[in-house]
Amino acid sequence: MTGQGEGAARRLTIDILRYNPQDPESRPHMETFELDEAPSMTLFVALNDIRDRQDPSLQFDFVCRAGICGSCAMLIDGRPGLACRTLTSSLGERITLAPLPFFELIGDLSVNTGKWMRAMSERLEAWVHSDADVDLTRLEARMEPELAEQIYELERCIECGCCLAACGTARMREDFVGAVGLNKIARLRLDPRDQREDADYYELIGDDDGVFGCMSLLGCQDVCPKELGLQTQIAYMRRKMLRAALFPG
Ligand code: SF4
Ligand code: F3S
Ligand code: FES
Repeated sequence: MTGQGEGAARRLTIDILRYNPQDPESRPHMETFELDEAPSMTLFVALNDIRDRQDPSLQFDFVCRAGICGSCAMLIDGRPGLACRTLTSSLGERITLAPLPFFELIGDLSVNTGKWMRAMSERLEAWVHSDADVDLTRLEARMEPELAEQIYELERCIECGCCLAACGTARMREDFVGAVGLNKIARLRLDPRDQREDADYYELIGDDDGVFGCMSLLGCQDVCPKELGLQTQIAYMRRKMLRAALFPG
């Protein structure tokens, strides 16, 4: 959790982009709320305070409040981040909140990341492909600790969508699978239980909607709340594919 520790109580001003696409009368507009900052206050606490005391119609998503479910991602002063892991003390007295771009807007700060993530996972067939008669438990037991750690590292993705919201390519290419999708393939490539060949993975991501669409803009890696080495993974897969294309066999 980011923050500078607890200081004197401040009066916070929070500007929130409001819009309800289900309501034909609704127009996107900023609405300003004021509240007293409490010690160790997160944006999660601040938003609940606003909803409880000032406007019950304010929409935003939270499930775990612990940086695990990924549902509270939003633009915090223009930068994608997790509201439940952001201390108000790490921000100025005036804070601007807006929904993550790129995803379908449900209302106010709530977006439908799940719908996009599901479609992307289906498109990339992002699950272990294995013959039915292979004993998955045995394969798992044989995994070297170093490999298990590498896989675990990539599995830390919480599908929050911050990487897509920060990616210029995702804004330009509707079907770009983003760092989150490429990270899924990088993870499956490492998994000894997945019996697909490199050529099968390359068919899924070896084009402009995959590794060759990425322009190394690095926004994904800058904002990933799990600090995953996304660009390194993408660059590695791109190099492997280029080598395979230039020197087949
Ligand atoms: Fe979020 Fe990082 Fe996963 Fe992207 S890669 S969805 S930023 S956790
Ligand atoms: Fe986008 Fe990250 Fe590539 S920001 S362009 S996926 S390095
Ligand atoms: Fe789950 Fe913030 S509420 S990550």
